[in-house]
Amino acid sequence: MKNIYLNIFPFNKKILNKIVKLLKKNKIIGLPTETVYGLAGNAYSKASINKIYKLKGRPKYNPLIIHYFDLNRALEDVEANSSFKKLYKKFSPGPITYILKKKINSKIVSNATANLKTVAVRFPKQKNIRSILKKLDFPLAMPSANISSKVSPVKALDVYDEFKNKLNIIVDGGKSKIGIESTVIDLTGDPKLLRPGIISHFKIQKILRVRIKTNFKISKINSPGLLKKHYSPGIPVLINQKKHDKNSAFIYLGNKYKNRKKFFSLSKKSNLKEAASNLYMLFRKIKKMGYKKIQIQKIPSRGSGLAINDRIKKAANYR
Ligand code: TXA
Ligand code: MG
Repeated sequence: MKNIYLNIFPFNKKILNKIVKLLKKNKIIGLPTETVYGLAGNAYSKASINKIYKLKGRPKYNPLIIHYFDLNRALEDVEANSSFKKLYKKFSPGPITYILKKKINSKIVSNATANLKTVAVRFPKQKNIRSILKKLDFPLAMPSANISSKVSPVKALDVYDEFKNKLNIIVDGGKSKIGIESTVIDLTGDPKLLRPGIISHFKIQKILRVRIKTNFKISKINSPGLLKKHYSPGIPVLINQKKHDKNSAFIYLGNKYKNRKKFFSLSKKSNLKEAASNLYMLFRKIKKMGYKKIQIQKIPSRGSGLAINDRIKKAANYR
């Protein structure tokens, strides 16, 4: 089939050079990562950052994650501490974001971090984004490529659905492997989990050998963007559901209702990591099919189930 989406491109050397040029000119590009697709712009340019906020309709108090090729480059902008170095060694590049203190002489523009003295730093693993980061002499501010409060995109076409032709380029890197956003861990004081992800706080605890706080009261300061309503597919979501109401799309784990219409399995093998990777894809698919409501069965609160429950709880808050 002919590609009718004029701004979706496969990754190659030619497109790489074009992207580098456009980013230098403060343009915003849709890029794949292993977690979800992002909206990328030059983190050292105020104009680029303003464009990102405008495109997403994102509140200015919600800071962006800054993406680097490696530790050395990040050290130009943030203070490293021993916890960060240990976690970096174990998990980066990969689906984890660290909140660190910003260096006084950091070049990150203040509107990228909502004027905070801290920076969220991530080292993505997906190979296209790594080739791009390697070639740039600035890091990329990159929130998930969705309109604020909506579901994150996991395919190039999802990004197109959100922004249509407002982006010059959307790179098609296939489906994002992880399928939900990175774990966010605050390392500026006692470690705190700000957003659960595939890398659980138990795994982090094992490396740091200290307790990771998870159930603290979220204040505006330590997590400005962790809104209670988020990840909305645009139709009501009900969680901990036992009985199908006959009309809604019913999301479940396993293989029990395999040939039944209106039933959608997150993972036939009831594997929670696989379930997390399918969640946003199913949300979008169900919405497109015209359903008016989503029911979700109770998801176990262990492993990647913790991250799934965080997302679906917030999706359920949305009306
Ligand atoms: O997987 C991901 O992290 C994706 C991909 C594209 O890298 N990005 C992503 O970005 O999910 P975004 O903007 O959708 O979510 C970033 C989260 C927000 O909840 C924001 O409030 C928080 O990180 N954050 C950013 N900077 C922060 C800071 N300095 N202190 C506390 N939280 C921060
Ligand atoms: Mg987001």
